Amino acid sequence: TKDRYSHVKRGNFATLEQNHLKFFTDLLGENRVVSNPSDCQAYNVDWIRSVRGYSNCVLKPRTTQEVSEILAFCNRHRLAVCPQGGNTGLVGGSVPVFDEIIVNTGLMNKILSIDEISGVLVCEAGCVLETLDDRLAEKDLMMPLDLGAKGSCHIGGNISTNAGGLRLLRYGNLHGSVLGLEAVKADGEIMDLLSTLKKDNTGFHLKHLFIGSEGTLGLVTKIAIQCPPKPKATNVSFLGLQTFENVLETFQLARKELGEILSSFELIDALSLDIVTGHLGLKSPIQDFPFYVLVETQGSNATHDEDKMNRFLEIAMKTGTVEDGTVTNEDSKIKAIWALRESITEGLLRDGYVFKYDLSLPIKEFYGIVTEFRKRIGEDAVRICGYGHVGDGNIHLNISTKEFSQDILKRIEPFVYEHTSQLRGSVSAEHGIGFRKPKYVHYSKTEPAINLMKDIKRIMDPNGILNPYKVLPS
Ligand code: FAD
Ligand code: MLT
Ligand code: ZN
Repeated sequence: TKDRYSHVKRGNFATLEQNHLKFFTDLLGENRVVSNPSDCQAYNVDWIRSVRGYSNCVLKPRTTQEVSEILAFCNRHRLAVCPQGGNTGLVGGSVPVFDEIIVNTGLMNKILSIDEISGVLVCEAGCVLETLDDRLAEKDLMMPLDLGAKGSCHIGGNISTNAGGLRLLRYGNLHGSVLGLEAVKADGEIMDLLSTLKKDNTGFHLKHLFIGSEGTLGLVTKIAIQCPPKPKATNVSFLGLQTFENVLETFQLARKELGEILSSFELIDALSLDIVTGHLGLKSPIQDFPFYVLVETQGSNATHDEDKMNRFLEIAMKTGTVEDGTVTNEDSKIKAIWALRESITEGLLRDGYVFKYDLSLPIKEFYGIVTEFRKRIGEDAVRICGYGHVGDGNIHLNISTKEFSQDILKRIEPFVYEHTSQLRGSVSAEHGIGFRKPKYVHYSKTEPAINLMKDIKRIMDPNGILNPYKVLPS
């Protein structure tokens, strides 16, 4: 029904008609227009099943020109559109709220070029992150980002959410590594910003408007991205620690001792590890501790890197900051250790309902929020756990309950956002705002900043057809 979400009403958009479907079918052919309600279902539900739309139209363009014609038509006819990549987003941005037309990038999956000298990859938006990484590996290159959803997420979705992930501490965020992109504006105009240059200060850096704007300003169709060389040596250690202070000391030590080869420093608390060992049956390589960290190095000289890792571990053990640990350079063991970290998101869903928070906080206050919520909610939750990207000051606070509870929600929000705001943190570190968080943006952005965002939206999408109800507060 139109009143399915109490806080948002369907906008004044047109409703899909037969003549609209005829236009799409003439443009794409029958196979690339999905309009059967049961076939549309999977495209209407997000990965964590928190948002469900009822669109009866999924379009699968293959080219930028087709995207341009689709958007120009939708704009003319005031049909709302939801851009969709791999549909792994965690804030409900990738599925319609009501009956928005879904434009899915799944068939825009060609690699256009890989320059082995500069390391620049140019590809279409629908390429799956892991596939790109596999193809680059053949040329001794790698993608500058990695995340648990790599097997499904698209590079266009990554760019549209400015995804962070597991190695941001080493390779930086996408505003740094995306050299250029091509995007289609709401009115169908193609913006060719597909530069492969490292340096280009010719006016405003328009590509940044599309990075992290979650499909509200345009549909990204192509990407040029700077890829680092594939490391010759990788070492991963998995360490057990008693306190969060020990985690911070270990991080400081890792930065000092591992320097330029440190590629990841991830936190898993005991209840987060329990998700993957309990629900998913994975095995921890060490005994039980309150905290675990996963430390990874990537470099070009195995002996040098191993020496550094061993020295780091020696100091950490000698000073007692780390009590137990294991280290490996074997591919299969590295994968098994990473699985303990990457599978938490999936395993958590088995608890029941998950209240997910993705916060940037000053590193010293990083874990305090988890402890605070254990005091506030305690046994009324199935689990209150924290994991995340220590190196980037980004904690994932997750509170699971058997089922959704309004009472628990009221005890979490708005406190979680007020607390974050007081510490000058961010209420969305890397997942974005999507449908679930527009009303909380003000905790991290001033009113003038929000107004400027709205002005930009009005200029680029005057009819508001692109991902309505998302990102911008109403
Ligand atoms: P979708 O989910 O399809 O879309 C995400 C948003 O981008 C939507 O608003 C959509 O409208 C828009 N969009 C998609 N494609 C385009 C396009 N071509 N043009 C314009 N707009 C578009 N995120 C992190 O940052 N770090 C992590 O470590 C991380 N780990 C994850 C682990 C798991 C197991 C899962 C399920 C998710 C994880 N995520 C993480 C969240 C998610 O994977 C990322 O946000 C990812 O970048 C989304 O890509 P996607 O192709 O699935 O996009
Ligand atoms: C992660 O770091 O695992 C992802 O951001 C997903 C999550 O927060 O669960
Ligand atoms: Zn994350």
